Amino acid sequence: MERPITLGEFIVENQKDFPYAKGELTALLSSIKLAGKMVNEKINKAGLSQILGKVDAENVQGEVQAKLDIMANNIFISTLKARGEIGGLASEELEDIAIFDDDIHKDSKYVILIDPLDGSSNIDVDITVGTIFSIYHRISEPGTRVTQEDFLQKGENQVAAGYLIYGTSTILVYTTGNGVNGFTFDPGIGSFFLSHSNIKFPKDGSTYSVNEGNYIHFPLGIKKLIKWMQELDEKDNRPYTARYTGSLVADFHRNMLLGGIYLYPQGSTAPNGKLRLLYECNPMAFIAEQAGGRATDGHRRVMEIEPSELHERVPFICGTSEMVEIAERFIEEFGN
Ligand code: AHG
Ligand code: MN
Ligand code: MN
Repeated sequence: MERPITLGEFIVENQKDFPYAKGELTALLSSIKLAGKMVNEKINKAGLSQILGKVDAENVQGEVQAKLDIMANNIFISTLKARGEIGGLASEELEDIAIFDDDIHKDSKYVILIDPLDGSSNIDVDITVGTIFSIYHRISEPGTRVTQEDFLQKGENQVAAGYLIYGTSTILVYTTGNGVNGFTFDPGIGSFFLSHSNIKFPKDGSTYSVNEGNYIHFPLGIKKLIKWMQELDEKDNRPYTARYTGSLVADFHRNMLLGGIYLYPQGSTAPNGKLRLLYECNPMAFIAEQAGGRATDGHRRVMEIEPSELHERVPFICGTSEMVEIAERFIEEFGN
């Protein structure tokens, strides 16, 4: 039996897709892979460290008390900063951008944006969480300090995007604009192996993912869409089934593999929805489109939205092309 290709081998082999690149993107993806392994290790021990913490509170107290999303944030920042590929980083967990302007970073070409731990409310109850990343070429000249402008780019400028899903197994999924591939982590060996090559959304789906507890606050178009999805009509797989974990990564991953639609619409209590354009929506939109799906805020293609601030939120609807199109028709007809 042929052994599957590792993520490291795949990244190097695909470097030829970027004739202009000199290996920095390859190195950057390797750093993400390393940070992902470290976060994975912490997540797997999350429950255990609490138990051990009670036995030996003094030694591990810091670790027990540190919230995993802060821990994941620190792991990604220190791992990415240890090498020179990026001039700075923006994170959901940081108010402002982090600028790396020492010698090894000054000629960097890239910036990265991360949601270090997505679905963090699920950590304490053993439900799947993730990490999301998004990589851009900087706009500012290499040799100078990066600025906010480098981070406030439209999603369509992304060079690469991906996520790690810490589920029943840990999988790293990413795209560099040339399709989407997934690599499953083998903890015994310590490597990611190609397990999901050239992922595409199925044409049809019958799953919807939305926090229906917010139903009464949703715009009329979304309410009508949800009721339509619940009606019986065999010719278009209705009624749909509902699946919602509260971890975008998990809901997105399932919908991409099995066919479905994810919605985080605006509501009267959250006028722009909850999800963050730069750390969550754009990277997922890039992956979705590369997998033959679509992502919209209801009116606009997510990746065409001009960002105005780092932590901006937008309504987010993402899934198979057909389902997103149906959602847009409802919004157009009944209003947002
Ligand atoms: P994060 O943990 O990074 O703050 O993200 C949580 C996000 C997203 O993953 C999830 O789909 C959504 O928030 C869930 O929100 P509700 O609890 O409002 O449904
Ligand atoms: Mn998140
Ligand atoms: Mn988060």
